Amino acid sequence: MKVLLIGGGGREHALGWRIADSPLVDELLLTDPIPGLPGRVVAGDPVEVAAAEGVGLVVVGPEKPLAEGLVDRLAERGVPALGPTAAAARLESSKAFAKAFMDRHGIPTARWSVHADPAEARAAAEALLAEGGGVVIKADGLAGGKGVVVADHAADAIDAIDEALLDGRFGEAGRRVIVEERLRGPELSVIALCDGRRAVPLLPCRDHKRRFDEDRGPNTGGMGAICPVPGVTPGLVERVRARVLQPVVDGMAAEGHPFRGVLYAGLILTTAGPRVLEFNVRFGDPECQPLMMMLDEDPVPWFLAAAAGELPERTPRWRPGAACCVVMVDGDYPGPVAGGAPIEGVPEPTGDARVFFAGARLSGDPPRLLTAGGRVLGAVARGADLAEARRRAYALVEGIRFAGAAWRTDIGAGGAA
Ligand code: AMP
Ligand code: GLY
Repeated sequence: MKVLLIGGGGREHALGWRIADSPLVDELLLTDPIPGLPGRVVAGDPVEVAAAEGVGLVVVGPEKPLAEGLVDRLAERGVPALGPTAAAARLESSKAFAKAFMDRHGIPTARWSVHADPAEARAAAEALLAEGGGVVIKADGLAGGKGVVVADHAADAIDAIDEALLDGRFGEAGRRVIVEERLRGPELSVIALCDGRRAVPLLPCRDHKRRFDEDRGPNTGGMGAICPVPGVTPGLVERVRARVLQPVVDGMAAEGHPFRGVLYAGLILTTAGPRVLEFNVRFGDPECQPLMMMLDEDPVPWFLAAAAGELPERTPRWRPGAACCVVMVDGDYPGPVAGGAPIEGVPEPTGDARVFFAGARLSGDPPRLLTAGGRVLGAVARGADLAEARRRAYALVEGIRFAGAAWRTDIGAGGAA
């Protein structure tokens, strides 16, 4: 079978590594070249490519093509795909849709309101701040993980509202803002495969979104991730499945938009129980990297089953221990970066340690590996426990060199949930 993988980041490198290794897969087709990933890069409209090449499965990494209806168009041509339709992808592409959906189906989330008018948004923020708990301002649409401001003071909240609604900082995505209650507690990501009827949760993950150690600095796409998460029991994952993931699948089916693909619940574990911060409709990046390192079976049958609406009544097998991914970034990230710096010291992959490239490209003759983005690569290692996984991941990082390289030193160092 041929598999077409959409996207060119670290998440897609990890997915592509496991897909290319599958005995079911004869050839991996790629929309983007990924250094070190064996596959044939194809140009043109992915729907036309998939139809012409007789592709048996399309795996969609990023959210944008999903929101734009790629899976709807593939379905019209009879091509199976891992990912939701555009209507189902609104769980990620419109935070206002997601919040209203959660309210309709009793899924626990932070109290919220949505506004296009700056004065109304300010009043809503001030009312929440008066309760003493802080407020969060979010652009409604897709903003690459950067459209969220957590504000403890009215001035910060008002700046965030004005930047989105008056200055147009997020363009169309920020034409409306969500004003929501700030929740407190450890964060947790639970990613599930869904087939329109059932949600099968994968190992719980923890992302590290802030740029600097101790969760300081701006939000980023993700500076590192671990899975599983210390203190997160199977009982807690089951609670998330029963209270959040399965109700999403049931609710979307009831509303006529069955959810097939990857559903990612970003949660805060409050003293009153898990609350949803956001949904994504695809694997997390970098959460996918440690997940693919931990999965103890071929993912392709799972992806095919999700696409076909036939997930088995069991959970996947996982390797023992834990995995840790440390993202190496260009020092200016999440601001604009120049790129073009040579990357050296990337080790040969082993069964327990490998590097997945994100903002990196091969260039010249002979080809040299150069930086080409904010998040350059993820160093991923598995260990008998999280402490060993961390040590191994940081050992990889210490050996890799490029001008301006920066990373967090505390990925996976936080306490139990
Ligand atoms: P989101 O894109 O909605 O996941 O938000 C990005 C990050 O902002 C989350 O990972 C949290 O760290 C933080 N955040 C979002 N919503 C809230 C909230 N209601 N309370 C506290 N922190 C939040
Ligand atoms: N790592 C968070 C995300 O992929 O949205």
